[in-house]
Amino acid sequence: MKEKILQLLNENNYTSGEQIAKQLRLSRTAVWKQIQNLKKNGYKIEAVKNRGYKLISKPDTPFPEEIKYDLQTKIIGKKIIYLNIVDSTNSYAKKLIRKNIDEGTVVIAEVQTKGRGRKNRRWFSPEGGLWFSIILYPNIPPYHSMLVTMTVSTSIAYAVKKTIGVKPVIKWPNDLLINNKKVCGVLTELDAEMDKINYCVVGVGINVNNEINDEIKDIATSLCVENNDTPVSRVELLKQILCEFDKNYHRLKQGDNIYIRDLWFSFSNIIGKKIRVMFQNNVVEGIVSDVDDMGCLIVNTSKGDIIRIVTGDVSYL
Ligand code: BTN
Repeated sequence: MKEKILQLLNENNYTSGEQIAKQLRLSRTAVWKQIQNLKKNGYKIEAVKNRGYKLISKPDTPFPEEIKYDLQTKIIGKKIIYLNIVDSTNSYAKKLIRKNIDEGTVVIAEVQTKGRGRKNRRWFSPEGGLWFSIILYPNIPPYHSMLVTMTVSTSIAYAVKKTIGVKPVIKWPNDLLINNKKVCGVLTELDAEMDKINYCVVGVGINVNNEINDEIKDIATSLCVENNDTPVSRVELLKQILCEFDKNYHRLKQGDNIYIRDLWFSFSNIIGKKIRVMFQNNVVEGIVSDVDDMGCLIVNTSKGDIIRIVTGDVSYL
C-alpha cells in the first residue's frame, strides 16, 4: 500500500485524497492514516486545500519502496526487508532461509545490536550506516565461494566510486579502504556439502553517515568523512550496489571467474607488495605474486617457499 501511494505521489505534482482513495480502493480516513504514517517515517508531504497532497522530500532511509523504485535487477533485491533494529542481519537472513526465502532477498537494518565481523569480531552498527545481508543459492563448487565475496566487494567498490567519485582500494580478502582506513567489510557465511553450496549469506557493513566508534577511529573511516564531510545518499548507494552485483553475480554463475578476478584486481594493489599474513596460528612474511582464480593469495615467502593462503589477516610491511 505504502509503495502504491508513494508511486501516485511521485507521478503527480498534487494528488487529491479522493484520487488516492479511488485508485487504491481505500476510505478517505485510511488514506489520511497512510499519509500520517509516511510523515512519521520522514517523508515531507504538504497538504493543500482543493489541490491535494504534494511530496516535498523523502528520507534517506533504505526502505524497500525506495530501493525497489526503478531498480533494474533480475534477481538481487526483488524482495527487500527493512528492520529498525535487529541483532544481526546475517542471523536474521539465516532464519529466513529455513523458510525457503527467495534467492536475492536483501535484509537491511538501521541498527544492529550484535553485528558480527570476520573471526567473530564485533561490528559496530549504529544509525546512519548500511548494514545488510544478501541471500544467495549459488550453484558453484564450495571451493569457489571466495569468489562470491570478491564479486560483492568489487560491486561495492564500483558503486562507491560512482556515487562519491572516490575509488576505494580492496585489501585482501575483502576490506574496502579509503586513505588507508577501512570503510566497508564483508562477512560471507555459508552452508555447504562436499560438492555443493546449500546457501550463502553475504553480510555487508558500510560506514556511510554513521559515527565511527572511538575504539576504531585510527583504522576506520566513513564515506561521509571521505566525501568532505558531506552526507552520502544510502538509498542511491545501495541501489547502485545491488544493480552492479546483479550483473556481476550473473557472470559468476556462468563460471566467468577470470572476469570477476580481473574486476577485483582493478581495485586492488596487492601484487608485488611485501606483506605479513596471520592465518591458523601461523605468521608468514613475503611478497604477493598473485591472487588465483579461486581468490587465494599466492605469496613468495622470505624463506623461498611459495604458499597459497585461503584466509587470513594481511598487513602491509
Ligand atoms: C568484517 O569483519 O570486515 C566484516 C564485517 C561485516 C559486517 C556486516 S553488517 C551486516 C552483516 N550482519 C552482520 O552481523 N555482519 C555483517
